[in-house]
Amino acid sequence: MARRKIIAGNWKMNMTPSEAVELVNTLKPLVANENVDVVFCVPAIDIVPVVEAVKGSNIQVGAENMYFEEKGAYTGEISPNMLVDAGVKYVILGHSERREYFGETNEDINKKMHKAFEHGLTPIMCCGETLEQREQGVTMDFIRQQVKVGFQGITAEQAKEAVIAYEPIWAIGTGKTATTEQAQEVCKAIRECIAEVYDEATAEAIRIQYGGSVNAKTAPDLFVQPDIDGGLVGGAALKPDFGSIVNY
Ligand code: G3P
Repeated sequence: MARRKIIAGNWKMNMTPSEAVELVNTLKPLVANENVDVVFCVPAIDIVPVVEAVKGSNIQVGAENMYFEEKGAYTGEISPNMLVDAGVKYVILGHSERREYFGETNEDINKKMHKAFEHGLTPIMCCGETLEQREQGVTMDFIRQQVKVGFQGITAEQAKEAVIAYEPIWAIGTGKTATTEQAQEVCKAIRECIAEVYDEATAEAIRIQYGGSVNAKTAPDLFVQPDIDGGLVGGAALKPDFGSIVNY
């Protein structure tokens, strides 16, 4: 089955609102590829100006996180309905940095998955192992648990629309991209896990990205792997290089 590629930039905590508009204007002509879904996932403060700046282009806007309530005494949080009202279409959930620095659990991410779908947002749910877990040979057990709990109660129809981003923690921000064999092996195993939880049709439909030091050099071999449907890109998404990645 031919799945439409999805290539998303995760800007993390970078770009002031004015820098964000400048970056969008630089990247817009470079990422004008109508054959893939191009998503800019940006800091909350940049969402409104970036939504405005991408108008008329092929670029969709994503958030980097959201809370699992619509409103209330949750100082500093952003709700799914706020994101939708601002024109956001995607939301990264469970990035390893949020799991590590903010203690997000698989159960928290499952609550956010449900809320994202309730509000018509497409989740990009992150999973991935540490170097220690890889060296101990527990990579797949760990990731299967992240996927099973994250998708608990999510319907097959919803799962078909979801995106999973496999991001080995040891490859994030290190310049050490996983080999195509490593990335394909884990993305294939994630797809097999989805087939077990749901069925073959759902497993064939869901899109699985690779993330972790993706760059213009490594993207082409990664994105043509049978079970890799694009990338979640950090550092390289903040540079014109992102155009080469989108047009791999
Ligand atoms: O979410 C994408 C990010 O974790 C990867 O970062 O800088 O290794 O591409 P980077």
